Amino acid sequence: MKHLVRAAPRLAGAVELPGDKSISQRAVLLNSFANGTAHVSNLCEGDDRASILRCMRGLGVEIEERRDCGVGGAGERFEVRGRGMGGLLEPVQPLDAGNSGTAARLVTGLLAAQPFFSVITGDESLLSRPMGRVIQPLRRMGAEIMGRGGDSLAPLAVRGGGLTGIELTQQVASAQVKSSVLIAGLFADGETTVIQPAKSRDHTERMLSAMGADISVSGHSVTVRRSELAAVDVAAPGDISGAAFWLAAGAMHPNAELRLNRVGVNATRAGVIDVLQQMGARISVENVREERAELVADLVVESSALQGVEIGGSMVPRVVDELPVIAVAASLASGATVIRDAAELRVKESDRIAATVDGLARLGADIEEREDGMVIRGGRRLLGTTVSSYGDHRIAMAMAVAGLVSEGETTIDGAEAAAVSYPGFWDVLARLSEA
Ligand code: S3P
Repeated sequence: MKHLVRAAPRLAGAVELPGDKSISQRAVLLNSFANGTAHVSNLCEGDDRASILRCMRGLGVEIEERRDCGVGGAGERFEVRGRGMGGLLEPVQPLDAGNSGTAARLVTGLLAAQPFFSVITGDESLLSRPMGRVIQPLRRMGAEIMGRGGDSLAPLAVRGGGLTGIELTQQVASAQVKSSVLIAGLFADGETTVIQPAKSRDHTERMLSAMGADISVSGHSVTVRRSELAAVDVAAPGDISGAAFWLAAGAMHPNAELRLNRVGVNATRAGVIDVLQQMGARISVENVREERAELVADLVVESSALQGVEIGGSMVPRVVDELPVIAVAASLASGATVIRDAAELRVKESDRIAATVDGLARLGADIEEREDGMVIRGGRRLLGTTVSSYGDHRIAMAMAVAGLVSEGETTIDGAEAAAVSYPGFWDVLARLSEA
């Protein structure tokens, strides 16, 4: 599907974001083997939600969708009937994680601990993404796991159970790998410790604590011991990764004021607010409150004069999914922006360094590709043309934001990819640009 975006004279209005994808996936997965029934509301929308629901149902978990008053207000709510630590069933068919790296890697951690045979697979993009990073530590814990490409790519075949805890020192900060190993550690003998080079998103740790797991966090290191989990209700906050598109659009656009309600601002995720503010964005963070172990706030962004910024080191895991749209903002900022230490972007749903550089260069930005990032010399006029989503939801939406501030018309080829995390994106874009 092609989607046409025009430069909008004004951008204004309020946005309710879809539920946070990382929190939603953990809420479904962890409650599936907890004791008791959990009500999960404001789950992320889109294909990645379908993927985690499909995987957990494939393991025998009953998850019922209800339309009534959920924890976060009126709307859809999922009732997850936990099967307890020993209650998951051997799946009859391969589990299909679709486009979701998080579902694939977290579910593999769970499968590694189950005393049965299972296969996990996904779409074309997922089948090209590195899985050795979870296979290696889970094998060290005692699971048998095989995969394509010399046991580095899905589909994976897993015969799990009989695990012993390990200490894993991560070379790259990855919440997916950390969570996969911690989930396996809940079923293992002894202690399982993950030592992170920099803090990646900590939703798993927070939710496990709320569910009564034996988990402790000290600096960058997290330790779990065998634990039974108690079901916990979750009302997922609005997804900061979705909010990032509106934050960047509002800051770049010359005539904008946007309000984003009830957005998750967990410090391990909210780097996009810090980076955009450092660039000069006028973003106010209002009504900060804690809701079920996660911080949420209302955000207001207004038209701003942006300057270039340097992004690297421990900031990278805090903005990892937001770097494409930050690069878009950098292309209209004054001065240079350097993004480094971000080679992980090459193994996301697409090669996001190549995809971002290609799209912005086509629109006329002065942008240079680096092995671990990019350099953008901002301030050139952007001129609408045709750009590709590369089948990646975040590239589709980042290019749409670029289209809003480019002269003329921008066509996004493969725009349907946005539905992976934000099916309502194009409608919200149309509404905000009509203002
Ligand atoms: C996620 C972690 C990040 C992120 C992904 C979601 C998660 O990946 O890019 O979109 O929910 O744990 P890595 O942890 O592999 O960097």
